[in-house]
Amino acid sequence: MKNITKEFPGVKALDDVNLKVAAGEIHALCGENGAGKSTLMKVLSGVYPHGTYSGDILFQDEVCMFKDIKGSESLGIVIIHQELALIPELSIAENIFLGNEQAKAGVINWNETVVKARELLKKVGLSENPNTLISKIGVGKQQLVEIAKALSKDVKLLILDEPTAALNEEESENLLQLLLSFKKEGMTSIMISHKLNEVSKVADSITIIRDGRTIETLKWEEVSEDRIIKGMVGRELTNRYPDRTPQIGETILEVKDWEVLQGDRKVIDNISMHIKRGEIVGIAGVMGSGRTEFAMSVFGQSYGTKISGQLYKDGKEISVKNVPEAIENGLAYVTEDRKNYGLILIEDIKRNISLPNLRKLSKFSVLNENVEVKEAENYRQKMNIKTPSILQKTGNLSGGNQQKVVLSKWIYAEPDILMLDEPTRGIDVGAKYEIYTIINQLADEGKGILLISSEMPELLGMCDRIYVMNEGSIKGELAAADATQESIMKYITS
Ligand SMILES: Nc1ncnc2c1ncn2[C@@H]1O[C@H](COP(=O)(O)OP(=O)(O)OP(=O)(O)O)[C@@H](O)[C@H]1O
Ligand SMILES: [Mg+2]
Repeated sequence: MKNITKEFPGVKALDDVNLKVAAGEIHALCGENGAGKSTLMKVLSGVYPHGTYSGDILFQDEVCMFKDIKGSESLGIVIIHQELALIPELSIAENIFLGNEQAKAGVINWNETVVKARELLKKVGLSENPNTLISKIGVGKQQLVEIAKALSKDVKLLILDEPTAALNEEESENLLQLLLSFKKEGMTSIMISHKLNEVSKVADSITIIRDGRTIETLKWEEVSEDRIIKGMVGRELTNRYPDRTPQIGETILEVKDWEVLQGDRKVIDNISMHIKRGEIVGIAGVMGSGRTEFAMSVFGQSYGTKISGQLYKDGKEISVKNVPEAIENGLAYVTEDRKNYGLILIEDIKRNISLPNLRKLSKFSVLNENVEVKEAENYRQKMNIKTPSILQKTGNLSGGNQQKVVLSKWIYAEPDILMLDEPTRGIDVGAKYEIYTIINQLADEGKGILLISSEMPELLGMCDRIYVMNEGSIKGELAAADATQESIMKYITS
């Protein structure tokens, strides 16, 4: 890609970017949130057609002027987007061949669809029935279905935009191994990732982008995490986690004998736990261990069909039957699934931030728009949300910046208990540090923090105490001093 420049109204997303990828290599693309990584890959794959950017794309020495995705796919360039795009109500097989149906004379050949789907699933190491609905499988497997779908298109260059962001360590490892095996077969891939340890493990070269410009391309031999970080943020970052001396007070939230059913299935089994003021409490566990379901069920019963157990706040039993009651009682839950539950993508930043705070912003049911603008502007600066204006639709923000809006809206709600579910997913290293600092501040103000994370270093770096969950119940509890990756894993596998 030569001298690529791409502008959106008010934003120069790419400014004379150059990217050279050798055939057969795994090339990583790194950079802060909003640096322009996804945009560059959308240019390459024809999502933004020729004419909407300037500069040239050369693929196997031919100049390409793609009109749409079909154009790039016909040459074997296939992109898997940052936010997965599978349709939950359709089966695995249907999703794989969506838009590329195995049909003759307009009639879909279902046998062939299923047989071919099964072959592709085998290639990506997924032993799932092709007729299973997407909604029935977890994100890790969905990511593999996306790859199977890409393989069905005879791919030469596979582009993966943060493929492991939503995966646990084992799933991520499997995916990276898969990429390495594709490389052996001669496939080229470009991978965008904020997980620098993965990047430095599998990438043959790494291109770093900052503020829409190419900074440098590093070869595998010269790569270290510190070097990438320096390129990304333009300075050294010595600590990944800010220092903090915890000041822990009385118990602020206690959950007793918590049980959650979804239909007849017991999802949460007899959980008792507590959080103290000023304390950051982690929940470790593999995906599917019930961490999200637990937090959501506590947050105004937003998950589960039948819930039993008691909640105590500051020692007094509270009744929290819906989300407004949860907010009223000082609870907040920052979702891991920002696209579906966290944001209204067609609304602007300001309105997304004010949404859970309308009561605070209104008098006699009239919204004070001046204050709304002022507060949104305040959070834009405090959280360093990269956008020309708080009037920007959140759907137009880069993934990491969307996450910052979700965090802002709940921090602005000034909760007493803040439950954060994978709060730094898809967030770059520099911004992570900023978010950790904010979490620490909230704890120091005497709030109780619950931190759900699949990144063990994050839990170990941030938490005062860690619960380990598996299969819907708590298997162990560790004080910060005793917590290590090994001690956590021991409880997970016990
Ligand atoms: N459709 C759009 N309309 C307006 N601005 C956009 C649009 N898409 C992207 N941008 C802006 O372009 C810039 C680059 O965004 P991009 O999504 O490429 O970042 P990114 O490097 O992928 O970041 P992240 O790591 O957070 O995913 C950002 O400032 C973003 O807000
Ligand atoms: Mg992106």
